[in-house]
Amino acid sequence: MATAIIYGSSTGNTEKVADLIKDELGDLVNDSKEISDVSADDMNGYDKLILGIPTWNDGELQEDWETFFEDEMDNVDFGGKTVAIFGLGDQDGYPEFFLNAMRAIYDKVIGGGGKVVGQWSTEGYEFDESTAVVDGKFVGLGIDEDNQDDMTDERVEDWCDEIRDYFE
Ligand SMILES: Cc1cc2nc3c(=O)[nH]c(=O)nc-3n(C[C@H](O)[C@H](O)[C@H](O)COP(=O)(O)O)c2cc1C
Repeated sequence: MATAIIYGSSTGNTEKVADLIKDELGDLVNDSKEISDVSADDMNGYDKLILGIPTWNDGELQEDWETFFEDEMDNVDFGGKTVAIFGLGDQDGYPEFFLNAMRAIYDKVIGGGGKVVGQWSTEGYEFDESTAVVDGKFVGLGIDEDNQDDMTDERVEDWCDEIRDYFE
């Protein structure tokens, strides 16, 4: 079995972060794919997943992820899978909905019997509300390319150090 990074990205930010994570984890990652190119069957071929999703339109899923949720998500078997989530958002522009889309993936993984790793501290971000916060932490890595792009490299490095053991 294998590990894949799978992401959706409308304006390229999540793709950029997916590439950084791939560089950081090196050979631990077998494939990196856009969600629009992936079916539920494809996803079921991996036992470990790193899933990237930006939040769009006041707390909604990025459009390719939305299509996947409508057509494919219920056929993904998360039982026994290890999943790490990363999300892109804009804390200044959308402080009421910051990174919300990560939560939709989290709920599907947990509901399907999978394990989510890589929860991330909310320190260093300023926002009012986020459904992506569970038990005081983001359910995955939060990246804000709109306001804090200078922090992205370090955040990715630190997060990859935290999740690496689960993907060996
Ligand atoms: C119209 C629009 C709506 C957005 N809505 C949200 C939102 O509700 N919550 C959030 O955290 N970010 C929101 N964002 C910010 C995007 O998530 C952010 O720019 C992200 O980096 C885009 O990633 P992508 O280029 O991979 O699609 C929004 C951006 C735009 C342009």
